[in-house]
Amino acid sequence: MSTIESILNEARVFPPSDAFASKANIPSFQAYEALCAEAEQDYQKFWANRAREQIVWHKPFTQVLNDQKAPFFEWFGDGELNVSYNCLDRHLEKQGDKIAIIFESDDGEVIRTTYHDLHQRVCQLANALKSQNIRKGDRVVIYMPMRTEAVIAMQACARIGAIHSVVFGGFSAKSLHERIHDAGAVAVITADEQIRGGKRNPLKAIVDEALSKTDDISVRLVVIYQRTGADIEFNPARDVWWHELTKNASSQCEPEWVSAEHPLFTLYTSGSTGKPKGVQHSSAGYLLGTKVSMQWVFDYKPTDVFWCTADVGWITGHSYVAYGPLAMGATQVIFEGIPTYPHAGRFWEIIQKHQVTTFYTAPTAIRSLIKLGADLPEQFELSSLRLLGSVGEPINPEAWIWFYEKVGRSRCPIVDTWWQTETGSHTIAPMPGAVALKPGSCTFPLPGISAAVIDETGQDVENGKGGFLVIKKPFPSQVRTLWSDPERFRTTYFPDEICHGKYYLAGDSAYRDKEGYFWIMGRVDDVLNVSGHRLGTMEIESALVAHPLVAEAAVVGKPHEVKGESVIAFVVLKGQYPHGKEIEQIAHTLREWVAKEIGPIAKPDEVRFGENLPKTRSGKIMRRLLRTLAKGEEITQDISTLENPAILEQLKYPTK
Ligand code: WT7
Repeated sequence: MSTIESILNEARVFPPSDAFASKANIPSFQAYEALCAEAEQDYQKFWANRAREQIVWHKPFTQVLNDQKAPFFEWFGDGELNVSYNCLDRHLEKQGDKIAIIFESDDGEVIRTTYHDLHQRVCQLANALKSQNIRKGDRVVIYMPMRTEAVIAMQACARIGAIHSVVFGGFSAKSLHERIHDAGAVAVITADEQIRGGKRNPLKAIVDEALSKTDDISVRLVVIYQRTGADIEFNPARDVWWHELTKNASSQCEPEWVSAEHPLFTLYTSGSTGKPKGVQHSSAGYLLGTKVSMQWVFDYKPTDVFWCTADVGWITGHSYVAYGPLAMGATQVIFEGIPTYPHAGRFWEIIQKHQVTTFYTAPTAIRSLIKLGADLPEQFELSSLRLLGSVGEPINPEAWIWFYEKVGRSRCPIVDTWWQTETGSHTIAPMPGAVALKPGSCTFPLPGISAAVIDETGQDVENGKGGFLVIKKPFPSQVRTLWSDPERFRTTYFPDEICHGKYYLAGDSAYRDKEGYFWIMGRVDDVLNVSGHRLGTMEIESALVAHPLVAEAAVVGKPHEVKGESVIAFVVLKGQYPHGKEIEQIAHTLREWVAKEIGPIAKPDEVRFGENLPKTRSGKIMRRLLRTLAKGEEITQDISTLENPAILEQLKYPTK
């Protein structure tokens, strides 16, 4: 059964319990509606009030929204702040000794860091970077294991006004090179190696390979955190050890006060062309989004032990590991490893050990853990939990109910949070003390977020009908532009068609049910969601055609029980159509090639060969037919515009 079908079959509703609601930050639907009404009345004033409450300003703002250059919106533009100050310094006086990070390594070592210590380490690295002439506005690529140090690196950049761009440790040298190059980075912060699930990944060697790909690379500094002590190539002209660089650095560092609109970071994500987009976020607006969502959606309490399992290589790890929890002064868990190592109960063990109260993870992780041990959570004491969260893709009701019953013991609400790299923080998600939950629905927009479902003419569709998900009014945490490509920003997110250049186009289709709940149906562009990771079909296609054997390739998604979607590649080879053993060999070669070109997450599950691809007379590949073939379904669509119907037979079966 597909996710959408199973969602439609689940009709149960889960209202907040009195026990939860009575203690919640937003304790009733009326309280939620009151906030929405305040935002509705004057959304600029609403956000201005929140920004004054939530942020420590070095210089208060007097301007709220500047839409003169729409869709390049600015918020609180004449205000000045520092994000790292807001995440660290502001807590020192009252709770310097509170644990900020409970770090657990892959092999179970636990290191606790207080706010005081974290502040010192961030200041030391910030000073060290300054001593190497890294300045405000410089771009710094971070390619790190999921450890406290990754957060320190991000915060140190924020402290000196350098713009970080984190690249997920699973991306290849080629992907890393592409991002370093596009960002024009002057420094890379990395580690000798990464260890996850007992497996080593040679991060520094990958950085070296990335930097050697072209001569026009602007990187002049590589900072290496020593994780494993493995042998690495050391280039004295460029490389420095983190521990040596910070050894004598002062643990006091005056923050660089920046304008509210100063870019805090860029983060590359997939779009519908082969080139990843450098999503650029602001300082103040972004920080504000992470803070209000921590309070509204995660119902943050100072006694919480917060755990978001996302890697800092993704937006979730930016907003709900590196910034949101620290901005709130929270205690959070950071875990270096994977959910299944050394056993499939690792997540539950960590929750028990560290008394986690708020647990935020992805449906794909939940589904794989159900498969590996549906009853495993019962063996652990999980009574510290009070709230669960889900992110990255629609959660199917089976997984929702399991998560609710087995992990949350039917006591903990689940917040299903819809948002994107581009929105910076939660946009449609329940306030758990206020909203009755429906498994599979992300429920209602946050106050001040004017989400709507429209048709291709830009009109709102009635409830029950599907359409394009848009956000009609600007909001503080939204993407500001695409790094070095403002035109692509405008045409991708504020297109003239559908949105009349005015609304933010999310790229998802959605509908609202008769009670107004939002249900996300999936992407409307050529973007796949594999295990909660965003992959562009075009990116994988370009990787495939870059292989000397390949003439042409088309990539589509196929529903997958655990991953949500899997990658299926249809390939035309330059030479002969392969036969016998050759098929398997070439398929294997191409899968490994994609892993090397982009990263293992992009590896096709299946490669099918054909003498051609299904095309229209004008030569356009008919992807909808390929999607049907990938699923193994009969073609019932209209194929009258198909030039070469015979090809369908050849592409029908997996050539495994
Ligand atoms: C895309 C954004 C920021 C979250 C991590 C992924 C899908 C995300 C949900 C959800 C249904 C979801 C959408 C969205 N998505 N959360 N709760 N329910 N779909 O960020 O890589 O920028 O991907 O993930 O399709 O557009 P991302």
